Amino acid sequence: MIPSVLPTYNRAPLHFVKGEGCWLFEEDGRRFLDLGSGIAVNVLGHAHPPLVAALTEQANKLWHVSNLYEIPQQQALADKLVETTFADTVFFTNSGTEACELAVKMARKYWYEKGHPEKTGILTFEGCFHGRSSAAIAASGADKMVKGFGPVLAGFKTLPWGDHDALHAAIDDTTGAILIEPVQGEGGIRTLPDQCLKGLRELCDEKGLLLILDEVQCGVGRTGRLFAHEWAGVTPDIMMIAKGIGGGFPLGAVLATEDAACGMVAGTHGSTYGGNPLGCAVGKAVLDVVADPDFLDDVRARAGLLRQKMEGLIAAHPTVFEGVRGYGMMLGLKSKLPAADVVKAGYAAEVITVPAADNIVRLLPPLNITEDEIQEAFNRLDAAATALENQPA
Ligand SMILES: Cc1ncc(COP(=O)(O)O)c(C=O)c1O
Repeated sequence: MIPSVLPTYNRAPLHFVKGEGCWLFEEDGRRFLDLGSGIAVNVLGHAHPPLVAALTEQANKLWHVSNLYEIPQQQALADKLVETTFADTVFFTNSGTEACELAVKMARKYWYEKGHPEKTGILTFEGCFHGRSSAAIAASGADKMVKGFGPVLAGFKTLPWGDHDALHAAIDDTTGAILIEPVQGEGGIRTLPDQCLKGLRELCDEKGLLLILDEVQCGVGRTGRLFAHEWAGVTPDIMMIAKGIGGGFPLGAVLATEDAACGMVAGTHGSTYGGNPLGCAVGKAVLDVVADPDFLDDVRARAGLLRQKMEGLIAAHPTVFEGVRGYGMMLGLKSKLPAADVVKAGYAAEVITVPAADNIVRLLPPLNITEDEIQEAFNRLDAAATALENQPA
């Protein structure tokens, strides 16, 4: 008999009932160190007091009104995002997938408005993940994402990661945009080197293409800058965000330049819940903390310590791990054993990590993880790795 919850997830048998900072409490009383943050969502940990205050204060006033009316909380968050990023304008969604939908629509509408309706093509890269809607799975192009869900939305071409020749060869008169994650999350913490992101920006400028960045996972302070593309010193035309911006409340957004957004006039897009007062009140409280340069300095300093500890972990367990990649609070431990086994051993040691492609164990801790908790992360991962080493073959 089919379970009452549609069985699309492979869930671990853990039942968390409470969260506090970097800690998750299991129903049975165990206390887990959370290095996953619900896959890069809880940027300020669980039940962060200013976020709880923002949410409850708003909940006591007004939950929902509809985008038929002005929403001051939405305006305030949009103003803050415009003030702190390349963007001139923002549309709020409830998730990263919905942000992907709009990014694709916006790029296509842009070219339609500019008199090039044929420029519907969007180039993407192997290993990418942009969500699970029809547009997002088409963008991924991966067999495991699209198989059985056809007809697949047309216009996407998935290119090998890092293959410049293939990229140049793929651009033709129908190409309108390039869509890429500065750091692939689900794809296994694959980082796009700064010079490559600069190169992509130049290529887009030269060929007249829109550059769409997916910062759903790597944005909102995760890499030690407010947004990952800031490391390369270039800006996109359109950017998708979600996850961290809500700190645990479902919230996403598309940020765009005025030019890129030129086609998105009244009636072209909408969402019942997108930008509702609750989500935007929390999003503003998140951004007030994370966009503070002192906070980001501190994230970078503690991220350095985390990396140093992980290098030590790898050196101590060469049969379990072979390297660490990524940056900021977005690290991937390249594992020699199946990543799922390492994550499971972590559960036994009461530490939460997240598997990704390419045998990567992701560490995506709350950005405010303390130095003591970083030491504890090492201790628990060390215990997990030792248990794996001592396992009978
Ligand atoms: C880079 C990236 N884009 C888009 C998405 C989809 O976001 P959501 O699950 O909020 O729809 C994800 C989710 O993991 C992601 O990592």
